[in-house]
Amino acid sequence: MKQYRFALIGCGRISKNHIAAAIANRDIMKLAAVCDPVTERAEKKAADLFAGTGEKPAVYADYHKMLQEMDLDCCAIATESGYHARIALDCIRAGKHTLVEKPMALSTADAEQMIREAKEHGVTLGVCHQNRFNAPIRQLHKALENGRFGKLVSGSARILWNRTMPYYEQAPWRGTWAQDGGTLMNQCIHGIDLLQWSLGGEPDTVMAMTGNYLRKIEAEDFGAILIRFKNGAVGMVEGTACIYPKNLEETLSVSGATGTAVIGGLAVNRVETWNFSAPAAQDAEVAKLAGTDPKDVYGSGHNALYRNFITAADTRTEPLVSGAEGIKGMKIILAAYKSQKTGLPVKFDGLEFSTLDMTHDDVKVE
Ligand SMILES: NC(=O)c1ccc[n+]([C@@H]2O[C@H](COP(=O)([O-])OP(=O)(O)OC[C@H]3O[C@@H](n4cnc5c(N)ncnc54)[C@H](O)[C@@H]3O)[C@@H](O)[C@H]2O)c1
Repeated sequence: MKQYRFALIGCGRISKNHIAAAIANRDIMKLAAVCDPVTERAEKKAADLFAGTGEKPAVYADYHKMLQEMDLDCCAIATESGYHARIALDCIRAGKHTLVEKPMALSTADAEQMIREAKEHGVTLGVCHQNRFNAPIRQLHKALENGRFGKLVSGSARILWNRTMPYYEQAPWRGTWAQDGGTLMNQCIHGIDLLQWSLGGEPDTVMAMTGNYLRKIEAEDFGAILIRFKNGAVGMVEGTACIYPKNLEETLSVSGATGTAVIGGLAVNRVETWNFSAPAAQDAEVAKLAGTDPKDVYGSGHNALYRNFITAADTRTEPLVSGAEGIKGMKIILAAYKSQKTGLPVKFDGLEFSTLDMTHDDVKVE
């Protein structure tokens, strides 16, 4: 496989995982440019990459100029969420395979346009739901693919985290409807993606209660969601940025007629329960994982996600987290927002909604 030439657009908090992925995958990719209007951030990432690979990428403040001047195959986008759709569409129209941080967009219309245009321009679109690559989650999916759970009944995603005011003040776009959404859209979307993926990937109806309780932000800092899937299974989400005094857990549970699995720890990376009616060869591999739990809430899934994305671009196949997959978690959250706003259950198919349809009054808790 050739070495794919990447640019990273956005060099803030999460960019370190993209740099680490570029270093880990340097046999098949070369991070040729880094871009951020705050050029010292881009310079810092260029230095980090140099320390890991001995190669210095070009540094840009303006991605339009970068797209014109650089010979690139792929762009990775890690800016404020509210800019993802605009920048992704510019990259797609420039013929670049595009990997975008989560959430891929903040409205169903934008996400659908990204998927449509990526297809029209013949480029690969991927979304950074890196937790799908966590070793215990891969095992859970192997068990699902092999039918070990039997008829699926229910599952839950519990994201019991803490984000304090300094976190929001450090980057004022966080917690705003225009640029981010609340804790469901920012922190909980990974868990929600895993839940929908595990329960069949075809949501039917979404009901939610959300609220802004403790943090002085526009959007919600807590949300509870119920999802009925087309196969009848029910998913439950408890998502919060308000857990006292610090991050407690992110846990996915899946339960069926002949199996139950719970993957927990700080960020869905520790096997907690693994019970199946019939033993299988994978159980020995799962036993080896028991007790491990990486400290970093972002995990190290970006490395595997990049490799999967590049392989998909190279073989003209869909990456594990394609645009069509990435839209689902985002759309469940937009359905939850609509349900909170209207007080009614929301049908998933045909939903058209945006974070901009929400106001602080929709989530204010007196
Ligand atoms: N996958 C994950 O686990 C994970 C974790 C954290 C954040 N994220 C996502 O990554 C994105 C960035 O989050 P963050 O916490 O790193 O934000 P941040 O505010 O720390 O960084 C965003 C950076 O993008 C830059 N930027 C803005 N406009 C730009 C443009 N036109 N061109 C180039 N750069 C531009 C900003 O100057 C800033 O440096 C968000 O969408 C967030 O939801 C994902």
